[in-house]
Amino acid sequence: MPPWKSGKHALHFWMQFLKTLVVFSLCGIISAYSNVHELMSSYPLIDGHNDLALQLRIRHSNCLSRIDLHNVSKVATDISRLQAGHVQTQMFAVYVLCGAQQKDAVRLTLEQIDVVRRMCTEYHEFELVTSVQELNSSKDRGKIACLISIEGGHSIDSSLPALRMFYQLGVRSMSLTHSCNTPWAESSSDFYNVFQRQNNSLTPFGKAVVEEMNRLGMIVDLSHTSWNTTLAVLNHSKAPVIFSHSSSYSICNHNRNVPDSLLRELKKNQGLIMVNLHSQFISCRDVASISHVADHFDHIRKVIGAESIGIGGDYEGATSFPQGLEDVSKYPALIQELMKRNWTEYELAGVLRNNFLRVFDKVERVRDQLRSNLPSEVQIPLEEVQNPCRLVLRRPDPKSLLSNPSSRAECGLPDLLILATVLMLSRLILIE
Ligand SMILES: *[C@@H]1O[C@H](CO)[C@@H](O)[C@H](O)[C@H]1NC(C)=O
Ligand SMILES: *[C@@H]1O[C@H](CO)[C@@H](O)[C@H](O)[C@H]1NC(C)=O
Ligand SMILES: *[C@@H]1O[C@H](CO)[C@@H](O)[C@H](O)[C@H]1NC(C)=O
Ligand SMILES: *[C@@H]1O[C@H](CO)[C@@H](O)[C@H](O)[C@H]1NC(C)=O
Ligand SMILES: *[C@@H]1O[C@H](CO)[C@@H](O)[C@H](O)[C@H]1NC(C)=O
Ligand SMILES: [Zn+2]
Repeated sequence: MPPWKSGKHALHFWMQFLKTLVVFSLCGIISAYSNVHELMSSYPLIDGHNDLALQLRIRHSNCLSRIDLHNVSKVATDISRLQAGHVQTQMFAVYVLCGAQQKDAVRLTLEQIDVVRRMCTEYHEFELVTSVQELNSSKDRGKIACLISIEGGHSIDSSLPALRMFYQLGVRSMSLTHSCNTPWAESSSDFYNVFQRQNNSLTPFGKAVVEEMNRLGMIVDLSHTSWNTTLAVLNHSKAPVIFSHSSSYSICNHNRNVPDSLLRELKKNQGLIMVNLHSQFISCRDVASISHVADHFDHIRKVIGAESIGIGGDYEGATSFPQGLEDVSKYPALIQELMKRNWTEYELAGVLRNNFLRVFDKVERVRDQLRSNLPSEVQIPLEEVQNPCRLVLRRPDPKSLLSNPSSRAECGLPDLLILATVLMLSRLILIE
């Protein structure tokens, strides 16, 4: 007999029912946050992508002593604006230009890691975190957590030992490509004419990179990779992956955005797409509105659900942002728009914070499951790298040393000029 009919239990049952009803309605009242700032104080933002470190290099040669990070002019990110925007965690990209591939990408990446680490330890408002537990609890300490992510697989120079050492330095995420192919994965852009091959979407070495990232507990980031590479990685990764800063291709058909078919694969993988705010990816034009941005959120929610969505603003990496979202203090305007469109507290808590925590947590669980695997010793075949700057280990020939004192012809001064030009060009058009 059901409890609501049995005489003995009926009263008790209906009392419980009434209580539950009251609690639910109270929750309804409490959860209807009267304003966006209250909501964002409870669920402060974890943002997937910011290129402040690149601006520190371009504008200040990484000399932190010359600036006050509380208030930095000519950029969209500083401590006071992060705080005003309720940004509690920022994934800081350590990005080096594609022109450094086959050259000094590893050194430049180390220098970018250094500047993020300095920033996040010299300012008491920041805190460098390397685990989901540290990240989650940094909120209670009132800190802005910094996560370090490598943008572009060219940073590891096709070396798994280099990847592991970056992990040791605190790197917890890496996008497999930027705007250039690597010898082992393909970019969504064909701006750089490098490593263009029919079968480059994820080579056996590329698979080894993904496996090693799974083993280490480093989040695989698919922003900037080609569709073929994205599909191959989604098929191969044991852990959920992210797009740290990409939007919907259905709304704006830019090659940096994600088509619905890949979104559905992402959902199977339990991964996350963190919506990019760059106007070019929102409206496919130089101008966009907050409403345009919200259209991306609505569309992705319709295709794969709110629990697969986050935010990766791409401030400092992109040139134009929607009106009303000009810098990192403006995130509440976006959340306000989603509230207006009837996104629930639960959905917004996920978008702001909980979805990323879930993914990072799962990545760590997969790492724990793979605990017994040894570090991978897979090496890339030399012919797939074709890098004249790689030293081939053999006894030096004294005669060749005399005739060619420092191998300048291969990796020396002329390349510096090319690098400078690429740096100028990229600064103008192609950073994102
Ligand atoms: C930042 O500095 C500018 C002048 O350089 C000043 O106008 C502005 O009020 C400062 N903002 C904060 C939050 O201190
Ligand atoms: C990949 O393509 C290159 C030429 O584009 C070819 O030499 C190589 O054998 C191919 N590798 C595989 C594994 O198919
Ligand atoms: C993607 O891969 C398929 C085979 O897996 C190939 O036929 C197709 O040409 C590739 N697309 C691009 C753009 O390379
Ligand atoms: C996915 O992986 C399986 C093997 O695990 C393979 O047979 C299949 O071709 C892969 N699909 C893609 C699109 O890479
Ligand atoms: C984050 O912390 C909250 C408590 O503040 C806890 O309920 C939640 O389970 C934590 N999430 C993760 C993924 O650790
Ligand atoms: Zn980018």
